[in-house]
Amino acid sequence: MSFIYRDGLLHCDDVDLKAIAKAHGTPVYIYSESILRRNAEVLKTSFIDRGFKVSYAMKANANPAILKIFRSYGLGVDIVSGGELKMAQYAGYEGSEINYAGVGKTSDELDLALDTGIAYFNVESLFELEVLNEHAINSGSKAKVLLRLNPDIDPQTHPHISTGLRENKFGMAAEQVTDILTKHQNYAGVSFEGIHCHIGSQILRSQPFDELIDYLVTYTAELEKRGVEIKHIDFGGGFGVNYEDPFEDILQTTPYLNDFAEKAARDLSKYQLHIQPGRVLVANTSVLLTAVLGVKENHGHQFTVIDAASTEIIRPALYDAYHAVYPYQENMGVHMSDVVGPVCESSDFLAKGRQLPKAVAGDLLVIGSAGAYASSMSSTYNLRPLCPEVLVKSDGDVAVIKRRQTFDEMIDLFKL
Ligand code: LLP
Repeated sequence: MSFIYRDGLLHCDDVDLKAIAKAHGTPVYIYSESILRRNAEVLKTSFIDRGFKVSYAMKANANPAILKIFRSYGLGVDIVSGGELKMAQYAGYEGSEINYAGVGKTSDELDLALDTGIAYFNVESLFELEVLNEHAINSGSKAKVLLRLNPDIDPQTHPHISTGLRENKFGMAAEQVTDILTKHQNYAGVSFEGIHCHIGSQILRSQPFDELIDYLVTYTAELEKRGVEIKHIDFGGGFGVNYEDPFEDILQTTPYLNDFAEKAARDLSKYQLHIQPGRVLVANTSVLLTAVLGVKENHGHQFTVIDAASTEIIRPALYDAYHAVYPYQENMGVHMSDVVGPVCESSDFLAKGRQLPKAVAGDLLVIGSAGAYASSMSSTYNLRPLCPEVLVKSDGDVAVIKRRQTFDEMIDLFKL
């Protein structure tokens, strides 16, 4: 079950999307519980059942209803801020199920994480290590640390979401990681547990991951020669999905998941292996449902203006990302056009220069792949209230898992 046309009308499982528009307004993110569960099951079978620890990178989508579902499959959570820590706890995660990644952590965030007793800190710099060490000593605890290595591997993805290249801000060069690990006695507040890498996001081919595994086999052998023992290797996330056909199952889209798990488990069998997937678990579990405000022509160029905008899905503006656009009513004709929002930016487009549904005012459209880095990157720019999220549950009920922000709530943050 998933997003599917029934009698020519788009449904999420058995629920007609028009009924959701009527009840909750537009724009609205619609998630399918059955796809969320199917994805979690795939990661469980491919990774957890092979002994991996899987921590969902909640930056992709931090809705606690989704976090709760993933927790029930044995997934932990990967956080990058104090806010994410609080949300993970709200969703029921214990400290021992939380890893803390990210290139900059404030003193308050480090203290919060130490107090919570999180499982691992993924440390990305010498300065962070020193501050963490000091805070851990002061709080009488020992922080378990994985050092983030920047392996200078090309993930073959968009430059804005490549993280493991030497010019990226993330991680540390191998020489620095080795240096720290051979002088670990200087850090009484820290216990060095292993290595972390994350080379980028939306990686569609297995080759960069194969390269990463080979790199880590060589690197850990060198560490061993120097007498350094580590227990954990965390590969980060990065598994890509199909944005062109968002209704495809992730095992079809990302067939290398199993091969990667098998190769990693075979070649690095001495270690406790971890992954931190975000996108692959959530991207194609959701669509953004939007209403057409009208169609305009400018110098022969067609624009379909919708009530959703880059405030709901900023990815096309930021990365020139492709998101599929479907009509609610099947078999609507197509024409060459842009689908744009009301926001006052020329980069406010959801689709550009493509054959897109020939819709008229009042028609409903959906933007595909709205589950990852959509709601979590949304904003109130132009003072547009944050829009609601609903979950089509496996039993057919539709639950509001985030309500629409009100004007008063937006204004409430300010003071005159
Ligand atoms: N681990 C670390 C340390 C990360 O930095 C990230 C993503 C992940 C895991 C999860 O990666 P994933 O499995 O989702 O690829 N906003 C961009 C993506 C930014 C990814 C940032 N880091 C987009 O919309 O494409």
